[in-house]
Amino acid sequence: MALTWTHKDRGEIRVHENLEELSIDLVDYIAEISEASIKEHGAFCIVLSGGSLISFMGKLIEPPYDKIVDWAKWYVFWADERVVAKSHDESNYKLAKDNLLSKVNVFPRHICSINDTVSVEEAATEYEFAIRQMVRTRTVAASDNSDSPRFDLILLGMGSDGHVASLFPNHPALEVKDDWVTFLTDSPKPPPERITFTLPVINSAANVVVVATGESKANAMHLAIDDLPLAESSLSLPARLIHPSNGNLIWFMDKPAGSKLERFKFSE
Ligand code: 6PG
Repeated sequence: MALTWTHKDRGEIRVHENLEELSIDLVDYIAEISEASIKEHGAFCIVLSGGSLISFMGKLIEPPYDKIVDWAKWYVFWADERVVAKSHDESNYKLAKDNLLSKVNVFPRHICSINDTVSVEEAATEYEFAIRQMVRTRTVAASDNSDSPRFDLILLGMGSDGHVASLFPNHPALEVKDDWVTFLTDSPKPPPERITFTLPVINSAANVVVVATGESKANAMHLAIDDLPLAESSLSLPARLIHPSNGNLIWFMDKPAGSKLERFKFSE
């Protein structure tokens, strides 16, 4: 690994030499959290996102992970979803299904995706309801210190504008506190209709991982992690608002994405 360190309040930072190394470290980490969660409560509740993240998880379908991971105990969710048909190329569900879920033994009934036949508002309500049911039956743990689910692992990508899930800079969705899932009809990145986990849900997870690669992410990474004057660390950079209240935060990146981090600049 090129460089790894722990920031006093922004979590652990892992800057990888290249994408191959990042991908191996990421799947090792996922397999480790999967095993620990299953040992602890008999299930692994993993939350996916869209974008390049799924391609970095590709090694999970190869040996040894395809055999050592206890797929039957996996429960799969999405941090955000584009409200399009599940067969549409823009669907995050389709991306994960085609490249990962259809190639391993996750039970279809353990895959909690949106209803793509209803309005965006109804899709958000139904998705939240489904998760509430799973918290009630203790498949998904409940947070000890908030009215939120406690997912074992939430995997997020990050846009060059610092968006995570479908929480975009300065968007009112960032301020939703009482719902677990909210919806947008005006996403600045197409398609416009989306549902997304709210910040309280992301920040109640046991483990949150942000994966971002490439030079276009370097500035957002600097703004999300480095110590900055207060005025700069606001709603204008959603990734800065990730602060698990009782969990771990890890940033996986390659060198170009990490190139503007203070610590990385001094180490080169
Ligand atoms: C979306 C994408 C998006 C993505 C980030 C990072 O819903 O539009 O899923 O949120 O996760 O933009 O994407 P990359 O890792 O592909 O750059």
